[in-house]
Amino acid sequence: MHTATADIDHVDRLMDSVESAADANAKAVKNTVLSPRFYTTDFKAMDALDISSVRAEWDVMMKEYEGDNNHDHFQRDAAFADEVRTLMPQLSPEMRQEFLDFLISSLTSEFSGCILYNEIRKNVSNPDIKQLMTYMARDESRHAGFINQSLKDFNLGIDLGSLKRTKAYTFFKPKYIFYATYLSEKIGYARYITIFRQLERHPDKRFHPIFRWFERWCNDEFRHGESFALIMRSQPHLLRGGNRLWIRFFILAVYATMFVRDHTRPLLHEAMGLHSTEYDYTVFRITSDICRQVFPIEVDIDHPVFRQCMDRLLQISLAADRATKQGGLMGRLRRGVCAVQAAWTFGRLYLVPVIEHELPKDIRMDPVW
Ligand SMILES: [Fe+2]
Ligand SMILES: [Fe+2]
Repeated sequence: MHTATADIDHVDRLMDSVESAADANAKAVKNTVLSPRFYTTDFKAMDALDISSVRAEWDVMMKEYEGDNNHDHFQRDAAFADEVRTLMPQLSPEMRQEFLDFLISSLTSEFSGCILYNEIRKNVSNPDIKQLMTYMARDESRHAGFINQSLKDFNLGIDLGSLKRTKAYTFFKPKYIFYATYLSEKIGYARYITIFRQLERHPDKRFHPIFRWFERWCNDEFRHGESFALIMRSQPHLLRGGNRLWIRFFILAVYATMFVRDHTRPLLHEAMGLHSTEYDYTVFRITSDICRQVFPIEVDIDHPVFRQCMDRLLQISLAADRATKQGGLMGRLRRGVCAVQAAWTFGRLYLVPVIEHELPKDIRMDPVW
């Protein structure tokens, strides 16, 4: 399913362009409906978590973290700088903007995990949770730092200390942190592995060396997701009754946000030989397959109404961006209309029947995609 390219054409003009380090930092700090956020939570409730019902699987996972098989991965090799020097001048200005947008939002999202895990680590004494958060913060800090090196090649490095101090934080109760973070880790895996596999098949389309790092990188994200899967399976009430409605909400909100966001970068996906829609449905499919380890319901990504609503949310988001650019009273009115339309469409999306299944006895999964 391809969305109307006429609308996509508007996007280039609508995206805030990044010309200087100040622009890059402003973009990372800014919170919009679509941009990655920073989170904080109830540390006392985190401290009280008891994972003893999944102890055996937990200990195996902790051994993997301790083994740290990616400790030497996030270093640039000799060819990296050469590839940057040869490939980057070949990017068109529009493509360069999309790639920078991709790097900045990926960095913000990696750093968001780093801050959250680190804050939990500092504020709990529960040894299981403290140890897990230490390992995950270690990984995310490497990921964020590695992306930042690539932004620095453009002289657009993000000041992470200042970002941490100035970006607004959203409070989520632990259960919402579990649903949202589990999904974002698994989607992070699915996104990175889909790009890696595509460029493995088409090395001529690898327009930046950073994509060579994605395979081992996404195994970290996969394991982070495994950690939240074990936490949720150790608290079965989080996966039953009324909480199933929250799970449904989070899956749809995360999928819809990703779909709209990715369609603001059509050239980036095209350069890799992908279409944004095709890329996103591949990522949805992998994520849905993985989520069966923990969620008793999955959304029906092949349902015609699901697909219609995703396309419709994209059109509404583009219309809202145009209204913002227009400004004034008319612009504000139009934005209001878009907000109502988006809420209505999300409601329709929410009512698409879900697929139910039993949770597997073995919780852990391998990253086999
Ligand atoms: Fe990460
Ligand atoms: Fe992660």
